[in-house]
Amino acid sequence: MTDAPDPTAPVHAADQWDSRYNELDQVWSGNPNAALVAELAGSPTGTALDIGCGEGADAIWLAGQGWQVTAIDVSAVAIGRARQAGSAARVVVDWQVTSLARMPFDTRPFDLVTAFYPTLLKAGGEDLDRLLSSVAVNGTLLFVHHADIDRERALAQGFDPDDFLGVDDVATALGEKEWDIAVHESRERDVHGGAGAHHHHDLVLRARRLAQRPPEPVG
Ligand SMILES: C[S@@+](CC[C@H](N)C(=O)[O-])C[C@H]1O[C@@H](n2cnc3c(N)ncnc32)[C@H](O)[C@@H]1O
Repeated sequence: MTDAPDPTAPVHAADQWDSRYNELDQVWSGNPNAALVAELAGSPTGTALDIGCGEGADAIWLAGQGWQVTAIDVSAVAIGRARQAGSAARVVVDWQVTSLARMPFDTRPFDLVTAFYPTLLKAGGEDLDRLLSSVAVNGTLLFVHHADIDRERALAQGFDPDDFLGVDDVATALGEKEWDIAVHESRERDVHGGAGAHHHHDLVLRARRLAQRPPEPVG
């Protein structure tokens, strides 16, 4: 018996994501992620970037809390749905169809950067660099991924989860003098509905940037 394709399997090309979104009228649960609410409810607000926002539930929740949100996704289909959901919720979000790597370099760093179950590539280090440099000094990075990805199943479906940045990769990249790690832990999650409902454990990383990364030595 072959496994049905895992709808949360990471693909990263925009057209692949568009195809996946086009298979269903709604892919995700429509609710903000529990770890987002747990970590940020009642926090002081500012500018926020949600990377890989999907159908927009997290960005909409943040905007409802008073954050000034930019939300990016490679999938135009996902952003179209997110935009509609944001209008229905009467919140203002700057929705942008772009990958993290192609986000304009002159974008100011954000007070909060969130990435929930992102498919950011390890290769080349570009996504990791952009992720970290998107966070302002004193800003917060909230990076969350599934703790229960079945690698054998993923390999059988033609992708290797190890190609993508995980929570531990990001935690390792945070220099002690530049970042204060407040949370780095596994947590149960209980999601009803949507394509991610079969994942029951999150890895949660929340860190605050203390200082800019020192410039690379020249020569
Ligand atoms: C697993 S989904 C998670 C969606 C949402 N964060 C959530 O929790 O429901 C990953 C999302 O990241 C988007 N994505 C993939 N690679 C990306 C990249 N390099 N930059 C921005 N978005 C990306 C996909 O289109 C998809 O919507």
